[in-house]
Amino acid sequence: MGIAISALNPAAAKLNNPKLQVAAPYLIEQAWADYTPEQHAIWAELVTRRMPQLRQHACQEYLDGFHQIGLREDKLPNLTEVSALLQPRTGWQSTPVSGFLPPDAFFEMLANRMFPTTTWLRSRDSMEYTPEPDIFHDVFGHVPMHAHPVFGDFLQNYGKICAQLNDHEQLERMGRLFWFTVEFGLIRQNGEIKVYGSGLISSHGECTRVLAGGCEVKDFDLDAVLNQKFDTGEMQPVLYAVESFSQIYEATREAEHRLG
Ligand SMILES: [Fe+2]
Repeated sequence: MGIAISALNPAAAKLNNPKLQVAAPYLIEQAWADYTPEQHAIWAELVTRRMPQLRQHACQEYLDGFHQIGLREDKLPNLTEVSALLQPRTGWQSTPVSGFLPPDAFFEMLANRMFPTTTWLRSRDSMEYTPEPDIFHDVFGHVPMHAHPVFGDFLQNYGKICAQLNDHEQLERMGRLFWFTVEFGLIRQNGEIKVYGSGLISSHGECTRVLAGGCEVKDFDLDAVLNQKFDTGEMQPVLYAVESFSQIYEATREAEHRLG
């Protein structure tokens, strides 16, 4: 049935990726030409607002990645162009999807080095926070880190491990590893705390609060992270700082041993 539909629909055929089974229905094309001047202006405002703080307090790998994948301050990113720069570096792509994915589809994409990327952009009345990820959170917040080889290996390994899990409690514990690294991770560089988690990169308020000492910063410890509950709607009371990105790659290997 899928073959018949693909044969009749060139767009569906183009989006068909043989590596993806459960995630396939969520793939879309980014209609980049349809973004309005107002939307490009909102993107520009969001980026311009974040960059001064990030130049000082984001980890170097994020700042390098921002330029390596060709992000611009004045225009929304074209995901095909981003992936064309990203893929030769680490094999990762920024792949457009229709919205939130169920866990099995999300993990399948990570395991194949495809980052599920939303294409809608927040409006002017929610510049600081959106309950669901938008293209600003996904591309500005996440994708620059995928240009770093060790981070890229970590994220793929994380996806591979989670794709094998069926146990709800194990998935919840692994969800905490994602939350305290990919979303809200900190790293020590040159004697300072730097941010690399997308929730901090893309949120001015939360990042400012954390940098001002508004939350407890603990040394990264796998057991502590796997046991640390979090509330997605609240400011974070405790975050974890790593010494290097090898540490979170090793953490996925360690987690895999324990789950196995
Ligand atoms: Fe995110």
